Amino acid sequence: MQTDKQVKLKIDKISLSFGGVSALVDVSLDIRDKEILAIIGPNGAGKTALLNCINGFYKPQKGEIYFDGQRITRMRPDKLAKLGIARTFQNIELYTHLSTQDNLMAARHVLMKHNFIAGSLYLGWAQKEEIEHRQIVEEIFDFLEIAPIRKRVVGLLPYGMRKRVELARALALEPKVLLLDEPMAGMNMEEKEDIARFIIDVFEGQGASYPDTPVLRDGIRSIILVEHDMGVVMDIADRIIVLDFGRKIAEGTPAEIGTNPEVIKAYLGKEK
Ligand SMILES: Nc1ncnc2c1ncn2[C@@H]1O[C@H](COP(=O)(O)OP(=O)(O)O)[C@@H](O)[C@H]1O
Ligand SMILES: [Mg+2]
Repeated sequence: MQTDKQVKLKIDKISLSFGGVSALVDVSLDIRDKEILAIIGPNGAGKTALLNCINGFYKPQKGEIYFDGQRITRMRPDKLAKLGIARTFQNIELYTHLSTQDNLMAARHVLMKHNFIAGSLYLGWAQKEEIEHRQIVEEIFDFLEIAPIRKRVVGLLPYGMRKRVELARALALEPKVLLLDEPMAGMNMEEKEDIARFIIDVFEGQGASYPDTPVLRDGIRSIILVEHDMGVVMDIADRIIVLDFGRKIAEGTPAEIGTNPEVIKAYLGKEK
């Protein structure tokens, strides 16, 4: 048991429905400080809906969500990004007509401290900040090995590269909690291994290799990973939560989940 660990994100009995369709029913879970939590379940189980509630795209009709003890249930996605919750999407969401670099700079501007007027009054300061942003973006490119595609238009990149740029964009927001919605979907084995390694490296932190980018230097506090590949999930998750028809049906370590009869019946037996 790890009950002594600090809770980073607390989901308390949330329910979400669309008309007559229940996407989430009374779901409660904790994401602890310094853990990778995987969420698994068949298609339509509510995994994406849960991430959408956490980052403010959906507002659950019932229940509350707390981040570092603060209630965040009805906050807007941009406010949550500033607080430190960033995500990637199952269906990639990038500015497809912009370059890789501009996509990351757009994310950095969400975090910009100065506003437009202050920016024009204190131009020197704004320029200094811009240079710092570029430096951080360059370190993220280097970390994810995408520096060569910094000027390429995102919409024209191969699918696996676009997924990687999306991860880069989420990192550019320097999150404390990172939500990953099927970051390896549609990838081959080698590409999956690359992404798994990036996830572990960014979780653990890279220390002196990236001194100017705190999120790379110190690591991310908590990661929620929605992923179908059970091999990957078993390898990198500290804990696993299983959803089925919008309900949490199991929770435990990879070893516990792998041998849970209800999970095998609902999920492992059927899918892949
Ligand atoms: N925007 C929406 N409008 C209507 N129904 C939705 C919407 N988003 C999700 N749902 C429904 O909620 C359920 C859970 O969906 P989702 O969270 O996408 O599942 P998963 O990511 O586990 O495959 C499904 O029945 C889905 O059809
Ligand atoms: Mg989904």
